[in-house]
Formats: sequence, structure tokens, C-alpha cells
Amino acid sequence: MKAKRVFFLLFLFLLFMFGYSWQVYRAFPKRERLLSDKAYQGKLVFQKYHCIACHQLYGLGGFMGPDLTNVISRSGEAYVKTILQYGTARMPRLGLTQEEIEAVVAFLKAVDSSGRFPLKKDEYKIQWYGDYYLHY
Ligand code: HEC
Repeated sequence: MKAKRVFFLLFLFLLFMFGYSWQVYRAFPKRERLLSDKAYQGKLVFQKYHCIACHQLYGLGGFMGPDLTNVISRSGEAYVKTILQYGTARMPRLGLTQEEIEAVVAFLKAVDSSGRFPLKKDEYKIQWYGDYYLHY
């Protein structure tokens, strides 16, 4: 084969390779934030005050206080706000501002709507390959 033809083929190949790479790069799914701005602020508040040191989300965290995954639907917004504002005998009053309380409640609402924890035995079915179906 003539050298000219080889270079032409090589050129075509490179063109295809870059075109294809560009296409793959473009098709990459965008990372979208799942939380609203307010809920995201609440997540930062949750981190700032180390809520996870005593509480769990989806069963993960410290074990001094209860799991907070579904605290909003379990006990309601007003209850959560009151606890955050005044503390209890066992939970310290952390001194959150009203704005921080609103934000953290928005975050807990978002967590609450993301699923349930813990699931009861009849709410899920484990498949032979280890995955599970939810039906609640
Ligand atoms: C030092 C440990 C500690 C920290 C830090 C802490 N909590 Fe608590 N929290 C507790 C304990 C203990 C309880 C249980 C209180 C009781 O039963 O009197 C509790 C209770 C609660 C409850 C009520 C839960 C229920 O199911 O009744 C909510 C909501 C809550 N905390 C939210 C938060 C948030 C949000 C933060 C972070 C801003 C936070 N807590 C930080 C220890 C903590």
C-alpha cells in the first residue's frame, strides 16, 4: 500500500476516534442536584451541627438519638421544629437560627420523601440475586 493511502486511512481513523470520543463525552448524563436550594442549605446545616454524630439517616450514623429518615412523616414538622429550637432532656439545644431550622426541616422533608427506613418484612422482597423489590 502506498504511504499516502496509509496516512489517509490513519487520518480517517483518527477523525473517527475523536468524533466518537466527542460524542461519548457529550452524551454523558449531567449531574443534577436532587435537593432544592433550601434542602441543600439544610444539608449543610445538618453537617455543620454534626446531627449525624447522634442520629442516623437510613440506619447510618451515631446511636445516641433516633433515626431521622422519616421523622417528618412520623412526627410532623412542628414537632421537629420545636425540638430543634428548645432541645429535650437528652438532646442539647444547639442554638440554630430560625433560618437554619427552616432549612434543616426542608432537608429532612427531602430525605423523608426519598424512601422509608426501616422497612417492615412485608414491604420488600429479596430476589435470588440479592436485589430487592419494594412494595409499600
Ligand atoms: C449530642 C447528640 C445529638 C445531636 C448533636 C443532635 N441530636 Fe437530635 N436528638 C438527640 C437525642 C438523644 C434525641 C432523643 C431526645 C429525647 O427522646 O428526649 C434527639 C431527638 C431528635 C429529634 C426527635 C426525633 C424523634 O423521632 O422523636 C429530632 C427531629 C432531632 N433530634 C433532630 C436533630 C437535628 C436536625 C440535629 C442537628 C441539627 C440534631 N438532632 C443533633 C441527640 C442529638
